[in-house]
Formats: sequence, C-alpha cells, structure tokens
Amino acid sequence: MCGIIGYTGKLDALPIIMEGLQRMEYRGYDSAGVALIENGKLELRRSLGKIIELKKILENETFSAKTGLGHTRWATHGRPSEDNAHPHTDCKGKFVVVHNGIIENYYDLKQDLIKKGHVFKSETDTEVVAHLLEENHSGDLLKTVKKTVESLQGAYALGIMHIDDPETLIATCNASPLIIGKNGSGLFLASDITALLEHSKDLYFLENGEVCVLKNEKIEFFNSDLESIKKETTHIDWNPVMAQKQGYKHYMLKEIFEQPSAISETLMSRINWDDASIYLDEIEGFDEDFMKNISRIYLVACGTAWHACLVGKYLIEKRSPFIAHVDYSHEFRYRNPKVDDKTLMICVSQSGETADTIAALEEGKKRGAKILSICNVLGSTVARKSDGVLYTRAGPEISVASTKAFTTQLVSLFMISIYLGRISGTIDKAKGIKMLNDIVEIPDLLEKTLEMNNDLKKLAGRYIYKQDFLFLARGINYPIALEGALKLKEISYIHAEGYPAGEMKHGPIALIDQDMPVVILAPKNHLLDKTLTNLQEVKARGGETIVFCQDKSEVDKYNVDHIFEVPETIHDLTPIVMTIPMQLLAYHIADQRGTDLDQPRNLAKSVTVE
Ligand code: F6R
Repeated sequence: MCGIIGYTGKLDALPIIMEGLQRMEYRGYDSAGVALIENGKLELRRSLGKIIELKKILENETFSAKTGLGHTRWATHGRPSEDNAHPHTDCKGKFVVVHNGIIENYYDLKQDLIKKGHVFKSETDTEVVAHLLEENHSGDLLKTVKKTVESLQGAYALGIMHIDDPETLIATCNASPLIIGKNGSGLFLASDITALLEHSKDLYFLENGEVCVLKNEKIEFFNSDLESIKKETTHIDWNPVMAQKQGYKHYMLKEIFEQPSAISETLMSRINWDDASIYLDEIEGFDEDFMKNISRIYLVACGTAWHACLVGKYLIEKRSPFIAHVDYSHEFRYRNPKVDDKTLMICVSQSGETADTIAALEEGKKRGAKILSICNVLGSTVARKSDGVLYTRAGPEISVASTKAFTTQLVSLFMISIYLGRISGTIDKAKGIKMLNDIVEIPDLLEKTLEMNNDLKKLAGRYIYKQDFLFLARGINYPIALEGALKLKEISYIHAEGYPAGEMKHGPIALIDQDMPVVILAPKNHLLDKTLTNLQEVKARGGETIVFCQDKSEVDKYNVDHIFEVPETIHDLTPIVMTIPMQLLAYHIADQRGTDLDQPRNLAKSVTVE
C-alpha cells in the first residue's frame, strides 16, 4: 500500500530513488513521483500510472541532487491522478512529504487549514501534513515535525524534506512500516526491505512515534519526546537476486517454482528426530505450562493467509486436544472474542504489515493472549509485536498474488500441529516420526507436481473467455478450493467461488450449466466417494469438470472432462500438493488473457490500511 523511499548521500539521488521505487512497485502502482532539491530549487515530477510513466517524464532530464524522496501510490483518498500523486508540498513549495498510510482526521485538519488560508492542490489526506508542517514551522525541523505528527490520527510512514535544508531527510511513523539503512555512499529510508537490499542488509526498523534524522552520513534516532535513542540494526539475509525475475516471465511463476526450495528452508533445522517433534525455538519463551493448558487457539489472518489458517484449524484439532477458531483479522477485533490469558493466538501474515492483522494482534494481546506469529518478512511489525515468531523463510515474495508464502504457511502450521500434539501427548513418538518423514518429502513431491505446468498451460487456453468458475473440495482441502478461486479472480478477473463440495446442493448448484467450469479436488481419502457424488451432480447438469486427484482409476469412470493426478501423500498434506495446480491454472489463464498478473488492478502487496 504505497511505497516511500528517500536517499541522502554522495551519489546522485534520482537513480537510487527510481530503482527503489521499481522494487516497491508491487506495493501500489496507480501513480508515482519524485522530489529533488536541485541548486536550491524544488524539482517535482509526478505521473499517473506505473513507474514506467514516471521514467518517461524523466528520460531527457539530468539532475545532480544528492538528496530526494520518491513514492509509488495505491490510492485511498483521491482518485489516481497526477495531482494526487506524491510527493506533496505546502503552499510555498518548501516542505516536501511522501506518505504511506491514512490520516484519519485529515478532513477536520484540512478544513481548519483552509480557514487559515492554506490552498490545497490535491484530494489526498497526505497534503494536510505538508500544510501542517508549514503552519507549525518554527525554524527547527525536528520540533516542527514533532508538533505536526502530534495532531495526526491514523497510520503513517512519512518522509519529509525542506528546501532550506536540502541535505536532510526526516522520517517518522505510526502503524506503517519504515526502514532505515546506511552504507558507505549514503543514508536511506524506505517502506520495504526489498527497496534497500541492494544497499544494506543491516537495517533499522522505526517503531511507532520514533523520529529519525538522516543527514551528513549520520543517522540519529529520537523518541516521540525528541530524546535521543539508540537503535540496533537487524541483519536481513535475503539476497537482492532473490527479488529479481531470473528469466521467468513473471514473479508469480518464479515464486510458484520456488516452492520446493522455500519449503526446504521453512523446514531447515526445525525437525527434531530425537523427540519425534519440531524445534520451535521461536516459542521457547512460552511457559511449558501455558502451552499444555491452552484454553483455545485463535488463528487470525486475511486473504490467502486466512485460507492457511483454515487448514491450520483442521490440523491442530486433529492432532492436539486444543480447540482452534479461525477469524478474519478485521472481524476478530470488532467482535467480542473470548480471549483470556490461556489463549494462544496465531497470527499469520506474509508481509507482517497487514493493518487488520496488526490491529487484531494488538486486541488479542490486550485481552491477555500469547501471540505466536507466522511471518515471512523479518523484523516486520507483526513479528516485532509477537511473543514468538515462526519465520517461513520463503524469501521475498514480489508477486502481489501470494504463492510460496501460502505453502510455507501451511508447512509451518503442520509443524505447529505436530509440536502441540507431541507436548500434549496426542501424538506418540512413532506417529511423530511418521509425520516428520511425510513432511520432509514435501519439497520432492512439489517438484513432481510442478511437472503439470505444461499440461495446465494447454488446458488454460479453453477458459480465457469464461466468466465464472466454481472450485469444490471437502475437508482439509476445502480451503484450497477457496484459495484456487481467490488466485483465479485476483489475477485473471474471472469471477470464481470456492465451496465445500457438500454445500453445492444448498444453492450454488443453480449456477451450473455448460458454461461453468468446475474444478474439483478429489484426493484419495475418506471423503472421496462423497466428493465423487458431487462430481456426478455437476456432470448431470452439464458442467465442465476439471478434477485433481491422486488416483485416476477411481475417477475415470465418471466421464470427467479433464483429470490430473497429483503425487500421493498423506491426507493432511494434500492441501500443499493440491495448491500447486490451483496456482498454475490461475497463472496460465491470467497470462493468456493478457492481464498484468504480477500487479493486478486495484490490489497492492501489503495492505497497510484498514
Ligand atoms: C492474495 C493475497 C492476499 C494476502 C492478504 C494478507 O494472493 O496475497 O489475500 O494474503 O492481503 O497479506 P499478509 O499475508 O501479508 O498479511
């Protein structure tokens, strides 16, 4: 949700800013802009559309400014337009502001500023910050920023500069990520690690209310009272090459194919063969008594991560004595969840910056829960606020549609379920060893599953003009039907619904005719016969069936239109294997429809607004 970047140092700022924006484009891509102070004059360039449009504007210009700010936008207040693109300035064009987040009280602030004579040039909430800075300006930049943010409500990560102090950047944040870095050539601020990986791997994460001054090769940190504070860096061992396409047509395809190695990383050094359990160092700080006496578990997340939670519920309730509830983060925090100090809350988030999930986490914590999070991004807000973090170690996920983050979340939840089963005695040593053997096979099984790529590419061509799709599955694979439908709709813009197969006859069956492709997940398990009955119900109404199963011979007889076999694994691991064809099918349909599938319309990678 918007990416901000700033640089001050010895090098020309513009190429560094543009490259950082390009790396953060997946955070928002409806407009972009940069601001430089060149020979005492503010140079502001903004454009509607993607970074490429901004590049065209800058193509024939050269700038030698060593300090600047940049922004790539996902519109919240004000439609995408050049005027609404950041950076924003005050009336005199002296303060420059880039912002990620939402200023919730902007309307009142704006009215007040208008009464004082300020003239607004955009419809954004952000512009009030520039005018407030102007209004509060005392000559001391730091104090001016402090006074300004005191009147802001909402979420913000701000990068600020002033024309009279052209080598200084000020950064501050509340409930939006802001990362600070340094190397021999200069100082950086950005919304995202991926924008800074090229420059530094030892990064500072700004906490709510903290202010940072980047000037003359020095970074200074202050708390909200402007008292000087010391901060430690976090080492990020992601490699910048990981955030590149490496010959794949899209990041999404690359990330789909990275799943075997990503899962190997998730599992690495976590298998405890001696105890037939999982090393969860991340929760070592949790009292063993607490873990054994958990009253209930809440699994909380949004979107794809929420689908992982649904699978997690099946796994945890099957393998341990604990009751698990699944909530959307934005629903959890606004109802009255029964949370006490015996509650374990598992927050799942790839980015660790999803505003809804952060708010749910805070609500759970306030009510006494212990928080274990499953995150991909190191040092992210969810990770920092949790009592323990299980990092999925999937590497940077650039495609807006989540793939490898999801399957590594599934693996993490499988590991947690073994751990809970082992500590509570519901899984004995022999069963534990069997499960560990099964999970370590998964990377190889996924390599085999990925061999379906070409067949699914061919199949996809049949569906590029379809308007609707149905995805059906039962039990632990029902969330994968939801995930298949979500992947398809978000990148191909084809309407798709996921249903538990048993629910179809309660309504959705009315939709089925020869124009409705129906994807059915039919793994070999105790629910297979029932799923095959649902398949026949679809066939009887003329629907086109695409079945993913583990044994063709069991399905063949039903005159299915398209059957694909996925490799065999135990029942509880079928969701991981079944996910791969869902991702590939969605990918190839979207690709053949020609959508911008790494950056689908209206979406952004990390949703930092509520
Ligand atoms: C779908 C997708 C989203 C995210 C959701 C949560 O492909 O990526 O549905 O899963 O916005 O994001 P995180 O996991 O970063 O909290």
